[in-house]
Amino acid sequence: MKVTVHRKAHFNAAHRLYNKDWSDYKNEAVVGKCNNPHFHGHNYELIVSVKGEIDPITGYVMDMKILKDLIKTEVEDAFDHKNLNLQVPEFKDLNPTAENIAVVIWNKLEAQLKDNLELTITLYETPRNFVTYNGKD
Ligand code: NI
Repeated sequence: MKVTVHRKAHFNAAHRLYNKDWSDYKNEAVVGKCNNPHFHGHNYELIVSVKGEIDPITGYVMDMKILKDLIKTEVEDAFDHKNLNLQVPEFKDLNPTAENIAVVIWNKLEAQLKDNLELTITLYETPRNFVTYNGKD
C-alpha cells in the first residue's frame, strides 16, 4: 500500500524565454510575452508529491519537516526573487520554461530523497498553466 504526501511551496522569479539563434522578431513571434528582453516575473506555485509505503514505526511516508526543509534549501533559497536566466546556474544554457524548471527541481529534490520514494513535481507558472514531471516518462 502506497500513500502520496504533498507539500506546497511558492517562489517569485523572473525569466526571459528566447532562442539565442533567432532574431528578436522571430523570438517575439514564437515566444510572445515571455520573450520580453527586460525580463518579467511569475509567482510560481509548487507542489512536491512524494509517494511511498507508510513507515510502520513513524506512521509517515516521509517526515514533512524534512521535506519542507529540503524544498527551502533546494528550491526557495535557490530560486526565490532571482533572475533565473542570470542568477541560477542550471539555466545558463537552458530556457527557464515551466517544463525545464520542473525538471530541474525534480533532479535537485530526487538527489536528496530515499530511493524507495517516488517524486512528482507540479509547477504552476500561472493559475491556469501548470506542468507535471515524475522522472519516468
Ligand atoms: Ni514568462
